[in-house]
Amino acid sequence: MKLLEVKNLRTYFTISQGTVKAVDDVSFDLDHGEALGIVGESGCGKTTSALSIAKLLPKEGKIVGGEILLEGKDLAKLSDEEIQKHRWNDVSICFQGAMNALNPVMKIGEQIAEAIVLHHKSSEKDAMKKAAELLELVEIPGERINNYPHEFSGGMKQRVMIAMALACDPKIIIGDEPTTALDVMVQAQILNLLERLRTEFDMGFILITHDLSILAETCDKIAVMYAGRIVEKGSSEDIFQRTGHPYTKKLIKCFPDIKGNKRMMEGIPGAPPNMLEIPPGCPFHPRCEYAEEVCRRSMPDAIERDRGHFVACHRWEVMRSER
Ligand SMILES: Nc1ncnc2c1ncn2[C@@H]1O[C@H](COP(=O)(O)OP(=O)(O)OP(=O)(O)O)[C@@H](O)[C@H]1O
Ligand SMILES: [Mg+2]
Repeated sequence: MKLLEVKNLRTYFTISQGTVKAVDDVSFDLDHGEALGIVGESGCGKTTSALSIAKLLPKEGKIVGGEILLEGKDLAKLSDEEIQKHRWNDVSICFQGAMNALNPVMKIGEQIAEAIVLHHKSSEKDAMKKAAELLELVEIPGERINNYPHEFSGGMKQRVMIAMALACDPKIIIGDEPTTALDVMVQAQILNLLERLRTEFDMGFILITHDLSILAETCDKIAVMYAGRIVEKGSSEDIFQRTGHPYTKKLIKCFPDIKGNKRMMEGIPGAPPNMLEIPPGCPFHPRCEYAEEVCRRSMPDAIERDRGHFVACHRWEVMRSER
């Protein structure tokens, strides 16, 4: 059984101006020990996907369709009570800038211990011991449990947040831009750490970013989102070597690759659509150099082009034949 199977998920926000289809018919899966990257520009629905899985949506957001199967159990249908338990034990999210959420007047160890007591109902003494172990796990000396957040660097604070995420032995860790605020060196260290922990504990890991180059080295598979949909998904090789969607192609050109080979940093002209007025047809067509009449008219289905490699584009063959 898969660790996680998201099938045809739809998560909508109802606001006074209308309905935002933030996640619209999204499907992906994740195995134990596997890492999935979700990439796309701002507003394409990455965080909403994560919050749906963690059952942490704000009240205006609702899962209106689809399934989220965690080891076969549908999280979309849990009772409120079951949700409480799920939140702490199954899925942990580390957000961008989460480190700033640390309480400045509380020792680091006490903050980690608090999470442990909450989730494991262990004694405070045991919790402090476990807090020190968790710090060691994220490569911070255990004796630093007695330090305050201001005595830590940004990267160390983000490690502390990871330690807290581990406190409840999650089956899945989601990093939502977990390293965005950090410099490149520290970013690489944190990603290495997450990779080590994932393998060591056989956890599933979902890494959300707008920088595709980060995912190349970190993730087994990648889903590219645009305007609430997955426009392409496949293995890292599929995405980088057999790129199937014009949007992915643009994203690849946007960033230098991780080995430091500086490519031209082309921005993608135009902007993603207003999510209240998604254009008919393929949502990417107004920005797509390959767009033709059919793209303005009909939404392309995601079709398996190589094994496990799905592309939602009418013009994929034309694009691919160009390389
Ligand atoms: N609480 C909310 N109320 C209404 N609309 C929302 C809410 N949260 C998100 N949205 C909308 O849902 C869409 C998807 O947002 P989401 O935060 O999931 O995008 P994202 O891909 O994580 O973007 P970013 O890269 O900026 O973090 C956007 O159009 C956003 O404006
Ligand atoms: Mg986000």
